Amino acid sequence: MKIFLDTADIAEIRRATEAGLIDGVTTNPSLMAKLGAEREPAELFLEICEAVDGPVSAEVVVLDAEGMIEQGRRLAKIHDNIVIKVPLTEAGLRACRTLTNDDIRVNVTLCFSPTQAHLAAKAGATYISPFIGRIDDVAGDGMELISQIRQIYDNYDIETEILAASIRHPQHMVQALLLGADCGTLPPKVLYQLLEHPLTDRGLEGFMADWKSLGREL
Ligand code: E4P
Repeated sequence: MKIFLDTADIAEIRRATEAGLIDGVTTNPSLMAKLGAEREPAELFLEICEAVDGPVSAEVVVLDAEGMIEQGRRLAKIHDNIVIKVPLTEAGLRACRTLTNDDIRVNVTLCFSPTQAHLAAKAGATYISPFIGRIDDVAGDGMELISQIRQIYDNYDIETEILAASIRHPQHMVQALLLGADCGTLPPKVLYQLLEHPLTDRGLEGFMADWKSLGREL
């Protein structure tokens, strides 16, 4: 499964890239806003694209299809890694179809139902982003949605990749892996939680202490 880092924080992106942990990046307007207004968005997207060898989702910030197409085409010129993120609305799907016809990859975001995921695929989406955590937040079952989309896409040999989004904790990741999501996007905190285990720490402490007691150099 491909792992994307869900952040616009360049330091976090570099840290994860240098450790070989990520295959791409997703951003959204809220993640961009967290950084403040100091950076020019296009410059930041370019810096992110140069830091990671993989898709970088950049989201449009208008509601009409023509505006999304215009912003999408402009964003796509920044770097070959750019994937245009559009919302799962009628206008978003129209923009998805046009941008896809222009050979621009599209990530359709804010997906909350299997029928939405099916329509996004018909509109040519490269990625569909079901928001697992936000469904769980309203007492729904985010993983059930991943499972339904996986079955639908498999039934019809749909190539759109399922990008499990709004991942909030390691168990979301385990379930997404087991259900066959193609990609998962997660915040830095969750990424590092995935590699932690107390038995690893305890085992390492033991190895280091035993080696020290041997009193030899390697
Ligand atoms: C995905 O592309 C979104 O940026 C993200 O996963 C949303 O996560 P949140 O629900 O934790 O904001």
